[in-house]
Amino acid sequence: EQLDPHVIVLFGATGDLARRKLLPGMAHLVLSDLAPDIRIVGTSLEDMSDEEFRAFARSAVEQFGHKQLSPEQWDLFDDNLTYVAQSAGPAALAAAVERAEQALGGDVRRLHYLSVPPKAALPVIDMLREADLVARARVVMEKPFGTDLASAIALNARVHETFKESQVFRIDHFLGKEAAQNILAFRFANGLFEPIWNRNFIDHIQIDIPETLGLDQRANFYESTGAYKDMVVTHLFQVMAFVAMEPPTALEPRAISEEKNKVFRSLLPIRPSTVVRGQFTGYTSLPGVAPDSDTETFIAMECRLDNWRWAGVPFYLRTGKEMAEGKRIISIAFKEAPRSMFPANSGVGQSGPDHLTFDLADESKVSLSFYGKRPGPGMRLQKLSMQFSTGETESAGDVLEAYERLILDAMRGDHTLFTTAEGIESLWDRSAQLLDNPPPVKPYAPGTWGPNAIHQLVAPHAWRLPF
Ligand code: BG6
Repeated sequence: EQLDPHVIVLFGATGDLARRKLLPGMAHLVLSDLAPDIRIVGTSLEDMSDEEFRAFARSAVEQFGHKQLSPEQWDLFDDNLTYVAQSAGPAALAAAVERAEQALGGDVRRLHYLSVPPKAALPVIDMLREADLVARARVVMEKPFGTDLASAIALNARVHETFKESQVFRIDHFLGKEAAQNILAFRFANGLFEPIWNRNFIDHIQIDIPETLGLDQRANFYESTGAYKDMVVTHLFQVMAFVAMEPPTALEPRAISEEKNKVFRSLLPIRPSTVVRGQFTGYTSLPGVAPDSDTETFIAMECRLDNWRWAGVPFYLRTGKEMAEGKRIISIAFKEAPRSMFPANSGVGQSGPDHLTFDLADESKVSLSFYGKRPGPGMRLQKLSMQFSTGETESAGDVLEAYERLILDAMRGDHTLFTTAEGIESLWDRSAQLLDNPPPVKPYAPGTWGPNAIHQLVAPHAWRLPF
């Protein structure tokens, strides 16, 4: 399918996300021919010439791109970049977009990518309206989409004064990961697992995203966000929806959002008593952090979905910074056999229940662990594992980085992997008790799995990690 030519207006063009993900991703889209006809107008609070911006983009692609560019390729990409400082005002922005459109020719569409902090999003939208850049446009917004129900409703209402919901793409890059989409393929393309995908066969589910990453560069931003708003409301809940949703009537955006939104509506309000908030020791000495900060750098929680499929099945979520290992797993624990005929010393039950595990790492994996016989005399059991990894398939080279995939989808106008205003509002609604009465943060040492209270939270179950 032919993609219309696009001018991408990148707000926050000199920021961290642009450098690490967006510019390298856009370079890859241009050069891999997935989106050959794009021009990028970078803009931010900094003053910069076109040449300086090109140099900035070049070093970003060299440092963070997953493919290195040859000089010829670089020249090709370079030509697509121009820069206009945000302080130059709406008229200057409109003129820069117009020049880029003329250079492309034809029926050009606009993609406004708002890689800016939440406070800056509305002024940018006002600027787009003043610059008359709303027609033929789509707008990509970065999280957080509000910080509670009232602010999310207000933000959505303000955005809708300028853009129709069909023009808005709220990005959640976890859904752009191949492995996250593989959950949909796995569940709905096979007859094997869906019949057991419910409370009759599944004991509990863990969505566990520990990070070793610290906050040295971002503490200032993080101070007003914390793990719940930074990770759970967007990434973890979104992934949970893919795991928990009913089969959609079709693999199309409206049907999928409807099912995801039903999951969010069935989420029982998060009770503070089922949440462990943690803060790694040393966080309060980072620049930009209050000495008595109560911001959580870690969170573990139990959630429940109040519907037929999942009644009684706990969902345990965990994520945090400065933890022992970096992993992104979804682990489905199946119920044990109804009675065991194996002798007590056979090892049955010793290694926990059977599990299906989705690893959302860049090279995504799905594995199934179950008991089998250990070779040798007698009947001794051991855990065996069947594993599939995208890295081993022929199409491994076709993997798109999450942001690339989502930028491409936004240009195509495909909302499948984006979040709706309604979905976000339900999540904030279910978060109200926790936001109003957060339990105090508990300290944990960097390089660990979080405060001790995490074990009690999931008892009698146990955390699956570390493997
Ligand atoms: C971002 C969060 O959205 O996701 C970061 O703001 C987090 O705090 C990051 O580190 C994790 O993303 P990924 O793709 O590296 O797992």
